[in-house]
Amino acid sequence: MVNEVASVISNYEIASNYWQAILKAPEISRMAKPGQFINILPIKNWPKMMRRPMSIASNEHENISIIYKVVGEGTQYISDWKEGSKVDIIGPLGNTWPEFNDEYPILIGGGVGIAPILYLQDKFSSEGIKHHLIMGAKTGSEHFLEHSPDDGLLLTTDDGTIGIKGTVIRALEAIFHTPSDIRNYRICACGPSPMLNAIKQFASDYSIECFVALETMMACGFGICQGCSIEREQNSDAGSSYRKKYSLACIDGPVFQTNEIKNC
Ligand SMILES: Cc1cc2nc3c(=O)[nH]c(=O)nc-3n(C[C@H](O)[C@H](O)[C@H](O)COP(=O)(O)OP(=O)(O)OC[C@H]3O[C@@H](n4cnc5c(N)ncnc54)[C@H](O)[C@@H]3O)c2cc1C
Ligand code: FES
Repeated sequence: MVNEVASVISNYEIASNYWQAILKAPEISRMAKPGQFINILPIKNWPKMMRRPMSIASNEHENISIIYKVVGEGTQYISDWKEGSKVDIIGPLGNTWPEFNDEYPILIGGGVGIAPILYLQDKFSSEGIKHHLIMGAKTGSEHFLEHSPDDGLLLTTDDGTIGIKGTVIRALEAIFHTPSDIRNYRICACGPSPMLNAIKQFASDYSIECFVALETMMACGFGICQGCSIEREQNSDAGSSYRKKYSLACIDGPVFQTNEIKNC
C-alpha cells in the first residue's frame, strides 16, 4: 500500500450518472490486483475524516480506472476532476479474488458494483478463459456495455428497456436452465447488498461456490478504525474471540466467500 499523487488522464460520464476516471498512478498500478480498491481524497483540503473508497476497474500501462456514481459531496468533487489535475490516493487496499483453476467463472456486477468485476474480466479475457458476465441496472440508460448473449454477456434492467427484464437472478436462471456440460461454476459478484444476498441464496440453493466483493461503509481502509466489521458465520470454536466472530471488510475483504459471512 502506498500514498500516491495520481494524475487525471480523463474523467467523463459513460452512462446516465455512471462516470469513469482514468488515473496515472504507476506505483499503485504496479501492485494492484483485481478486487482491490483505492481510498481517495476527493479534493486537496477535504475537511472530512473519511476518504472515499473506490474499486479499481482496470489497470493497464501505469493507469488505473474507477467507475463511480455521484451520490454525495465526495463523488461530486471527483466528477469535477479535470484532465491533468493531481489527486491524492492510497492503495492498493484489500484482498483479491481467489485463484481459478478449472472453475467456470460467472461474473456479476450490479450498478457501479461492475467496477471490480470488469478488472477481473480483463484478466480472464487476456488469459483466454471462457466466462459469463452479467451486469444489472435499473434502466437502459445506465448501461455502457452491449447485451450480447452469444458472447456470454447478459445485461438486465428492472424495467426491461435493455436485455433481460428483471434482476441479475433472472440472467443467472437463464444460464442454469440452458443445457450445458459445465458442472464447476463459480460466481464472483459485486453490487448492492440485496443483490448480493439474493446471489448468496441462489448459490447456496444450487451448491455453487460464490465470492462477493463488499462495499461496506469504511473509514481508514487499512485495519485501524474497526469501522467496517462484518459478522462471520458462527463456527463452533468461535468462543469469545472478536476476530473469529467478525472480519474487517477493508483488510480481510472486500472479497469474501459467501459461506464465510452472515450477510452481504
Ligand atoms: C471497498 C469499496 C469499494 C467501492 N467501490 C465503489 C465503486 O467502484 N464505485 C462507486 O461508485 N462507489 C464505490 N463504493 C462506494 C463509495 O465509496 C461511496 O459511494 C462514496 O464514498 C460516497 O461518497 P460521497 O461523499 O459522494 O457520498 P456521502 O455524501 O458521504 O454519502 C452518500 C452515500 O454513500 C455511501 N457512503 C458514504 N461514504 C462511504 C464510505 N466511506 N464507504 C462506503 N459507502 C459510503 C453511503 O451509503 C451514503 O448514504 C465503494 C465502497 C467501498 C467500501
Ligand atoms: S475501514 Fe478502518 S478498519 Fe476497516
